[in-house]
Order: sequence, then C-alpha cells, then structure tokens
Amino acid sequence: MTHLLHLDSSPRSDRSHTRRLTAEFVQRWQDVHPDGGVTYRDIGRNPLPHVTESWISAAFTPPNQRSAAMQHALRLSDELVDEFMQADLILAGIPFYNFGMPSGFKAYIDQIVRVGRTFSFDPLNKKTPYTPLVHGKRMIAVISRGDGGYGPGGRNQQYNHLDPHLATVLRFIGVVDLQIVAAENDEYGGADLDKSLESACRQLRGLASETKSHRQEVVGSNRVP
Ligand SMILES: Cc1cc2nc3c(=O)[nH]c(=O)nc-3n(C[C@H](O)[C@H](O)[C@H](O)COP(=O)(O)O)c2cc1C
Repeated sequence: MTHLLHLDSSPRSDRSHTRRLTAEFVQRWQDVHPDGGVTYRDIGRNPLPHVTESWISAAFTPPNQRSAAMQHALRLSDELVDEFMQADLILAGIPFYNFGMPSGFKAYIDQIVRVGRTFSFDPLNKKTPYTPLVHGKRMIAVISRGDGGYGPGGRNQQYNHLDPHLATVLRFIGVVDLQIVAAENDEYGGADLDKSLESACRQLRGLASETKSHRQEVVGSNRVP
C-alpha cells in the first residue's frame, strides 16, 4: 500500500495558497489510490520546537548510551523520522519567506535530518564521511511566492534560495526524486496570480493522477545510464 505524508507549513489558514494546493493534490491522489494511506501533519498551525542543546547532545550520543532524559529529548524527533520513513511519497506545502524556507519548515528539517537515522557519519572515511540512509522516496514540494520570476531563467532566479536548499538537504539524506511545483504573484493578485495558481493546480492534478507503473516509466526514462 502506498503511503502519503502530507505536510502543511503555512501559518495562514484559508488565505494560504500552499494549503489549498496540497489539499487539491491529496483529494485527487486519494481518488487514484483508493487503498493509499495518508498521514497529515500541520506544522504551520502547530509549530515544531527548534533543536536545543539537550536535543543535540542526545542526537550525537550512540542510542545504547542515551540516558532516559536524552531519549525524552529525542522523542518527537524519533516520531517525525518514523513518520517520514513510513511514507513513500511526501507532499509538503512550503511558503517562500525572505528568499528561503520559513523557519517552521526549517525546524521540521532540523528534526528529521538525524545522524544514525536518516544519514550516517564516519569520521574515518575522509572521502565520503556522510552516507544517506533514506531510499526510494519521492517528494513533491508545493511552494507559493509573493513576487514572480523566481523560476529557471526568471528575473529573480538568483534570489531563490529555497529550491536549491531543499534539493541539497533532501539529497543529503537520500531523497533524490524531488519535484517542485510553485505558484507566484500572491502579492500582486489579479490575473497573474490566477494564471499561476491554475498552472500549479494543473501540474499537481497530473502528478496525483500518475499510477505507479506510469511513474516507473517516467523515472526510468529520466535515469542517467
Ligand atoms: C514573513 C514573510 C516573508 C516573505 N518573503 C517573501 C520573499 O522573500 N519573496 C516573495 O516573493 N514573497 C515573500 N513573501 C510572500 C509569500 O511567499 C506569499 O504570501 C505566499 O503565498 C505564502 O504562502 P501561503 O499562501 O501558503 O501562506 C513573504 C511573506 C511573509 C509573511
């Protein structure tokens, strides 16, 4: 059974474009995958804590040497990593804030990028000390931006630090299959916003309607020999 992890990270409610777009995807995905499971986590309305000194010290202590207090410090992070690892597909709604990801989504990333859980570290292996521990997952990031032109070749492309940051950190843990669907022009409204939202919605409906065998063909044809 395919499992979808649906994350929303906008602090906005009804006015959030990313929330509306991810909801549209999930509805369509459930029609196409009636046996699929969905886990929902709203990190926009229920922000996650930032990592603390006790969290860091626990995360870098080998599991069999952790005190009860250390295990407690990592409880939520363990839950988030388990949830992430159980999903085949991760759908994340991410608002574009100050040229990057919002702190609420970054807090999520900091909780799931965990040594020994989503990546391993070998200080003796100077050539490749880090090894990704996540395999076979796909992520769709649904982004909304206030201005326009942040996409490839656009007038603001150089200021888009969200797409490359997301791709880098996901690749670091082993999520190499990332698709970004973006809406723009929230700050202008009107026809430019409507056009962008329609295009994002169309792309998401197409992605949600892909069956597993169709997806394998797409990934297979994109693979570098
Ligand atoms: C704190 C904050 C910072 C923002 N920074 C940018 C920015 O750097 N560039 C931009 O194009 N839009 C920026 N915006 C606009 C948001 O990207 C836009 O409103 C987007 O639609 C938010 O996602 P949402 O609709 O899901 O809430 C910012 C908005 C807020 C509230």
